[in-house]
Amino acid sequence: MPSKSLRVGVLTGGGDCPGINAALRAVTKSLTLQHEAKVVGIRDGFQGLIDRDVEPLHYRDVSGILTQGGTILGASNKADPFNYQPRGDADVSAQVVKTYRNLDLDVLVAIGGDGTMSIAHRLIDLGLDIVGVPKTIDNDVVGTDRTFGFDTAVRTATAAIDQIHTTAQSHHRVMIVETMGHYSGWIALCAGVASGADVVLIPEIEYNTDEVAQVCLDRQRGGQRFTIIAIAEGAKQEGGHRVRQGRTSADSNSARLGGIGHVLADQLRERLDSGVRTTTLGHMQRGGTPTPYDRNLATAFGTRAASLAANGSSGHMVALQDGAFTTVPLGQVADRTRTVPLDDPLIASGHSVGTSFGVKNLEIPNRAEAPSPL
Ligand code: F6P
Repeated sequence: MPSKSLRVGVLTGGGDCPGINAALRAVTKSLTLQHEAKVVGIRDGFQGLIDRDVEPLHYRDVSGILTQGGTILGASNKADPFNYQPRGDADVSAQVVKTYRNLDLDVLVAIGGDGTMSIAHRLIDLGLDIVGVPKTIDNDVVGTDRTFGFDTAVRTATAAIDQIHTTAQSHHRVMIVETMGHYSGWIALCAGVASGADVVLIPEIEYNTDEVAQVCLDRQRGGQRFTIIAIAEGAKQEGGHRVRQGRTSADSNSARLGGIGHVLADQLRERLDSGVRTTTLGHMQRGGTPTPYDRNLATAFGTRAASLAANGSSGHMVALQDGAFTTVPLGQVADRTRTVPLDDPLIASGHSVGTSFGVKNLEIPNRAEAPSPL
């Protein structure tokens, strides 16, 4: 009797980002070509396992999607089966287990961010076999130096800050650009340094408003009549609060952030004569065609996840550490956030070229061999 083919489910949880389709293509093509597996696409993240909303994914279904942003399967960041918002935060995980069994899946590949990895870890305790693939523009998944989506978001944010320069210069204004990134400052740091922002404000370093205003005044007095400020949505002033937009999103495991750029603008207007404007980049950072780096990272992660799935190595997330591909137990990833360490080399480099991080005397720990985000 011929042996049963391996059946692998795949879903994309949390917010979308560039590179997810590249990962879906890699998982599906690699499982089909190398392991003669059947792939089942699960729609809208864990929602598809709650509702049994699935579709077969064949080799041809994922042809031509490498360059497309978003996810052909759809995503949801409101479908945490352990806190299912549409049913008053009920625990519907038993429904997920039932669908997994009814679909006769051998393993599930969960492509997602920190929220998805945390849910995956809890589902493993209920008997599911799951392999994780880290994606998010935020680059905040513990256990991997890079998530795909991040490089594209940094490119978008950098280009946006570059565009803002002309108005800043022409109108002698303070121009604030708010990036996404949730509780981590990776996007603001990398795009801010890449675009030569004068001030970079990240959640990991609480800023002092008087100091930020002083930077603007000093620049004015020195003949540079404009200031560009890159601020992460999760940044806050010393002793202040994060600016939230609404209710907690269950899958992303936290509140929606946004609006600190406008708060800072008001604070600066009280201290400066010059015009102050804020641009919030928002979801445009999640869109667009993935950069070559993100396509390749997604392809490398996807093919490795396919191998893990085929070899029965569940319970792990594929990862990139110090330039090498590896795997990390999901238990080490769940319920944690990878923020920017203060000894990150890019902070030191920015500081050296005069970028302000919003505090007067920034103390940078000396660790020359720290892994670089570049
Ligand atoms: O995790 C990606 C991300 O874009 C964060 O940077 C941001 O805080 C959040 O998702 C926004 O989520 P939503 O799409 O639900 O507004």
